[in-house]
Order: sequence, then C-alpha cells, then structure tokens
Amino acid sequence: MRRRTTPESFDPAQVRPWNAGLAGLGFGGDYNPEQWPDDVRLEDLELMREAGVNLLSVAIFSWATIEPREGELDWAWLDTTMDRLHGAGIQVALATATASPPPWLTREHPEILPRLADGTVLHQGGRQSYAVTHPVHREYALRMTTRMAERYRDHPALALWHVDNEIGCHVPRDYSAAAADAFRQWLRERYTTVDALNDAWGTAFWSQRYGSFDDVLPPLVAPTYANPTQQLDFDRFSSDALLDYYRDLRDTLRQITPHVPVTTNLMATSHTKGMDYFSWAPELDVVANDHYTAAADPERHVDLAFSADLTRGIAGGDPWILMEHSTSAVNWQPRNRAKLPGELLRNSLQHVARGADSVMFFQWRQSRAGAEKYHSAMVPHAGRDTDLWRDVVGLGDALEALGEVRGSRVRSRAAIVVDWPSWWGSELDSHPTQALRYMDQVQAWYGALWRRGVTTDMVSPGADLDGYDLVVLPTTYLVTDADAANVAAAAQRGATVVVTYFSGIVDEHDHVRLGGYPGAFRDLLGVRTEEFYPLQDGETVHVVGEAVGGAATADLWTEKSHVADDAEVMASYQDGALADRPAVTRRAVGQGHAWYVATRLDREGLDDLAGTLVAEAGVGPEFSAPAGVEVVRRWSDAAPPAGQEPTSWVFVLNHTEESATVGTEAAPVTGTELLTGERVSGTLTVPAGGVRVLRVG
Ligand code: GAL
Repeated sequence: MRRRTTPESFDPAQVRPWNAGLAGLGFGGDYNPEQWPDDVRLEDLELMREAGVNLLSVAIFSWATIEPREGELDWAWLDTTMDRLHGAGIQVALATATASPPPWLTREHPEILPRLADGTVLHQGGRQSYAVTHPVHREYALRMTTRMAERYRDHPALALWHVDNEIGCHVPRDYSAAAADAFRQWLRERYTTVDALNDAWGTAFWSQRYGSFDDVLPPLVAPTYANPTQQLDFDRFSSDALLDYYRDLRDTLRQITPHVPVTTNLMATSHTKGMDYFSWAPELDVVANDHYTAAADPERHVDLAFSADLTRGIAGGDPWILMEHSTSAVNWQPRNRAKLPGELLRNSLQHVARGADSVMFFQWRQSRAGAEKYHSAMVPHAGRDTDLWRDVVGLGDALEALGEVRGSRVRSRAAIVVDWPSWWGSELDSHPTQALRYMDQVQAWYGALWRRGVTTDMVSPGADLDGYDLVVLPTTYLVTDADAANVAAAAQRGATVVVTYFSGIVDEHDHVRLGGYPGAFRDLLGVRTEEFYPLQDGETVHVVGEAVGGAATADLWTEKSHVADDAEVMASYQDGALADRPAVTRRAVGQGHAWYVATRLDREGLDDLAGTLVAEAGVGPEFSAPAGVEVVRRWSDAAPPAGQEPTSWVFVLNHTEESATVGTEAAPVTGTELLTGERVSGTLTVPAGGVRVLRVG
C-alpha cells in the first residue's frame, strides 16, 4: 500500500524533541485565527501572554482559506500568524491543513468522497469528506503538505508537525471503490495467493471460494452475515490504510524538514475502535492524544484516567502530549453541561499525573459561527471577565509551577492487556451473544483497579511483561501462539495472570482453537470449557466463593467448564443451568498463578476479586487515600545520587466533595507542595475537588 518512503538519509537522531523550545510543560490549544478579524487576533496575543500559553496547533482546517480556488494561494494571514506567535514566544504545532478538503476539490473530483457499507456517499459540507485511500485525494493532500513544509521549513516558531487531524475520526471505515482497490492490494500483500486467502477466510463455507483477488469486495451490506475473517481483515486493512495516509504525509515532511518531529492527534479512548494505535505508535515521533469527558458520566474522571493510561501505554511509557480536551462544555453530547468549579484544573492535572507533558485544548477562542460555536474554548464568548478565563489563567500558573515534572515517568507493576484485533473479533456478528462489548470488560477491570488505588499500564499482548506482577487479559478473544506464550511466561516468572471469558478462542484468522475453550489459554489456566451459556437480557446468576467476597451476582456470560487436577475452583455458580460449576479458577504456574474468570461479575464482586488479586500480586498502592481520591506518582529519569531514590512527584487529585487527607504514620508523605509552595511533613490535606502535587526527594 505504501508509496512514499522516508528518505534513506533520514536519521531519527537528528529529530529534535518536540518541546525543545519550551522551558517546562506545554500549554495552549488549537488556534484558528482565520475565523477572526485582525483586531481580535491582536487581542489574542495579549491574552495568550496573560495565560502563559506557549504552544498552539495552527492551520488544522485551513486548506480552503489558504487555497480558496485551485492553485490560488493566500499565505499572508498564516505568515503573519507564525511571525506574531514567534514574537510572543509561542511555539507552533503546525498542521498540514489537510483535515478537510476544500469545496472545489470535491466538486472537481467527487470520486474522492467516502462511502458507507450500504453505498451512501458522505458529501462535502461537514468535514473529513475524503476517501483516505483515493489516489487523487492523496496527490492533493501531499501537494498541500509539501507547500506547508516548504513555506515554513525554517520558521523559528515551527516546533512540531501535526498531520491532518484525528485521522479516522468520522470515517474509520470507507467502502468506496478506491477502498475496495486498496483492500484487494492489501490482501495480495498479506496472502500472496488467493488460495491462502481462501484458507484464512474459510471460504469453503457458503460457496464463498474466490478464484481471483479481483472478486473480493469490502464487507458491503449483504443478505446476511459477511464472512467474519473478511470483516476482521477489513478492520485491519482500514486501520493500516489510515496509518498509511499519515505515513505518506509524514514522509513528505521528513524529506523537507528532517529535523522537525511529526505526530498526529490520536483518540485513545474507550470508544475509538477503528484504529489499532499500538501499531501506529512506532510511526509517531511523539504520541499526542485528544480526550473529552462525558458530562453525564458521574465517573468521568475514571474514564479520563483510562484514556491517559492507554495513551501512555501506546507511547511505551514515554511522556505524551494532551493535544485536545475541553475547558468546559462540548457541543456534541446529548446535553452539553459546563464543567463544575475545579474540574478544568483537575482534568488537566490528571492527564499530567499520568504522563502528559503538555495540556492543550480545543480551542483557543470560542467560535462565533459554525458547528462548534457552543463548544467551550480558552477564551469564552463572554470574554475575559469570566470564571472560565480566570480558571485558564490559573491553569497556566499551575503548569508553570509544575514545569519540573517534564520528562518524568509513571511506574506501574500492574498491566491490563488491550488488543484491537480482540476488540474487532469479539464483537463480530454471528457470535454466542450480541450483548458482549469488549471495552466494557476492559473498563470494568480498569475501574476496579483504579478504585483499589493501583496505577495500571495498558499494554498489547505481545508487550514485554517482565516488570508486571499483575497482568489482566479481559476478553482477549484472538491471540497468536506467540502472544499466548508471552502471557504464560509472565505467570511462570511469578506474575498473577488473570484471563476473563471469551479469551484465547481463535487464532489470527478467527479460526476456533479446537479441543475446548479457552483454546490458547486452556493449559495455562487448567480449564476446559465445553459450551457457552450466555445469559438473556436481565438474567443473572449468583456466584459464591471467598475470592469474590463471599457472594456476587453475575450476568451476560457463563460457560460449562471443567478444571484440571492442578487447578482450584475459587468461586462457583450457585444457581442457573450451571449450578455448582466453576466460575472463577486459579492454577499455580511456575512462580506465579493463572486465574480464569468465566463470567461477568457485578461491580462489588469484581471489586472484591480485584482486592484478592492485588493482594496476591502485591501491587497495592503506596499511599492510602479515601475513596474517590486519586494518587499517582511520576518519577524522574535522572540518576539519583548513590543510595538515594530519584526525585518523584506525587499527584493527589480529590474527586470528592469533602476535603481529604493522604499519608499516615506508617506511610507518611513528606516534601514540597508545588502549587502552594508549602512544606508537607507526614500528611497532606487536599480540599474538596482540589489537586496537590508533592515533590519528594
Ligand atoms: C475533536 C476535533 C476538534 C474539535 C473537537 C471538539 O474531535 O479534533 O477539531 O472538533 O473534537 O470536541
């Protein structure tokens, strides 16, 4: 699929760090001056100074402003913007301006418009109306990218390239003719022969055998279930196609500005199913992420932590850029409520606590017109005399005070395995239940560990698991032999490994592993399942056993399992079709243990089980904190003097409405609090909804 390549002369070592021009943490947002007259743009500079802004994403949606008619270019406003920002000491993450094609392009080339699986064309008029694989679109996008790079290659404000924007956000799957061509090409590269494709897709079934790659289509709307492996491969292909687009633009930038780092803003969240970001990460010079909280979710801070930890996992533990979040309300949820007092600071510093070295927003100034005019920004419609503006200035001060945490890293001894192919595969149609949602399980386990105060890394199944004492695999449906062996080795080495229902079921082609479920993990767990018994909507069963706190309720999934002689039953079903059969099991493996959780436990049951597992693995929190108070630590990378621990920063985020105290006689907290400058010795009190950051050592 790839055409352009990174130039041979390219040396990754010559890429300067994205934050080379910043003294501490990055602070800013998307800046769209093309929406405003010049007097407002001049006021922007004053306000940016007042807030301490030092980093802005510019020109994300500027293609039609720069090139209103084909070949007619207006750079003046962008030249002035770049110069003025530089004059104000602000660094720029400059976009390729390709996030939305200008109207003339889709009029002249309607063939670049993307399509849904039923053939519906996604027209121009919103944004992102392009087929990511279309060669004509690619040519125009590369031309725009080249122009941007050539024009600003030596501009002193240019710190980072921001390729396109949230690639795949609105059109994660395109079913256009261009996509079909690219899919066939991708399949040729993957399988070489059509016979290999037939084997992988199991086309002996339903007369689906292909005589030629030319006969293959994307999984379009069909009379009944499309071939599952075709669907799975189309998911893989689509993620790769979106990445290929990024890579093509990046390589163009690298040809012209080999020293400037390149990234694109990911959407590593619990609902971004389209892109396998673990496979994207190696292509980014720094990982950047966008996250928005859901106003209706009372536990939105847990969802935020989840996204931040997933981003850090994708970044391989390196610090990352929070490229977008909101100062207050968004405009795209059913009811868009403003944030509560303190929430802006708490959200921002929660990202920093979990590894962000930059806090940025969509957007700098709230629009007057267009679809996002009711979306909050750093400068609200009501102007400067607002709580929101004072909060933005306060955040700027806080980030300045925290500058020294830049570059430090979060450490964790617990990991949750996240796997996009398992997400895609486990939710395919024609399965034991349509009610299974992969991310519900991942989030349930994440939440249980969060409530236990455990800082959790999110890793791929093939990741190096050596540093982890607790490894959880929620619904890891599809595994390769190598990844299954990697997980088993972690248990051998001493970790507590936990596998949940509908894991290890199929190989990479979605072929069932025979001999009893959970296939790839059967021997590791000492469990053999004969059949699945998914529960009906609203149906529950009771589960009894000390490991789940005595008794718990379960729903969604049960299965008829047997345990091997060397495995123990830790909890069993009390009622239902499978009464007395195992629900939770444990087997000693090498220096560690392998647990199986064959059902979906309710929250209390899962919390109790998580407590059992955290205790067995010895990964409990260093500091005890009341419920709803989050404690996360970042550690300096710098080598400490002999015999000393490195400097660290303990972030305490109080998500409750009561003031909270952290630190006990047995585990005192001592150091300097950076937001107030106070010396803390023994205990630290954090006001309701507040944040404190303690430098230790
Ligand atoms: C993001 C996008 C921004 C803006 C924002 C609103 O998905 O990158 O351009 O639309 O959402 O929340």
